[in-house]
Amino acid sequence: MPARLVYEAILETGISVSLRYEGHMSRRKQIYEGKAKILFEGPEPGTLVQYFKDDATAFNAQKKAVLDGKGVLNNRISEFVMLRLAEIGIPTHFIKRLNMREQLIKKVEIIPLEVIVRNVAAGTMAKRLGIEEGEKLPRSIVEFCLKRDDLGDPLIAEEHIHAFGWATPAELDEIIAMTLRINDYLQGMFAGIGINLIDFKIEFGRLATDTGHVVVLADEISPDSCRLWDRDTNKKLDKDRFRRDLGDVTEAYTEVAQRLGILKETNNKTAPVLSVVSNDD
Ligand code: C5P
Repeated sequence: MPARLVYEAILETGISVSLRYEGHMSRRKQIYEGKAKILFEGPEPGTLVQYFKDDATAFNAQKKAVLDGKGVLNNRISEFVMLRLAEIGIPTHFIKRLNMREQLIKKVEIIPLEVIVRNVAAGTMAKRLGIEEGEKLPRSIVEFCLKRDDLGDPLIAEEHIHAFGWATPAELDEIIAMTLRINDYLQGMFAGIGINLIDFKIEFGRLATDTGHVVVLADEISPDSCRLWDRDTNKKLDKDRFRRDLGDVTEAYTEVAQRLGILKETNNKTAPVLSVVSNDD
């Protein structure tokens, strides 16, 4: 049976989002399952298929839910962001989107760091340093956490990275330089659609080459991994809606996708419907 997506989102009044997908997940060999994504063996050596689940977790997976359609939206938003970043010369693991929930990516060795950039105080930094959420930081700040779920991804210093060899000094220099460029670009991209990029988390991987390896942007960039606030109202359009029980999570992600021009609005006066019923592509 061909994979098929049924997507319907009614916004503004009487919000209703319904995204269902019948895919081909089981055909491929699963090599890793994370909280929001599954990695399968890819069709060619050196490739993987990254599958976006609807599962949402927060607070180191103490809070869990399934949000209908979240994976579809994150796949599309992350594809869009990775492609824009590639255009400005950021090397990424992204090759192409395969269908509504899957993308083909280059196989990389993930560097065990969560690289967080903050432009405005929020979340754990606001709490840790006693800064009011929403206060603009004197400059963008890059933080590192160790990717260790069993330890709750602890905050670490560059010193730890060097001492324990989690990345070489050259890799870390590249990571920081790329991270700041990504932040500059994404701040502008989101500002253009009326959104403040408060903070975000990215990950990098080592991509093998004939002569060694290069560091590339990996994982995803989506409302799961960014804080995105509407410029005029400060409405949260990101995973904090789930973390803080604000409701309308997929509606907020849909709004981000719509503002980025990924989802086309069709004009129907009784029910503004986004996008289409389409065959898998
Ligand atoms: O929770 P905290 O304030 O440290 O998060 C900073 C940023 O990093 C937020 O945008 C959050 O969504 C993202 N993040 C993430 N995955 C984590 C931790 C944080 O995407 N494991």
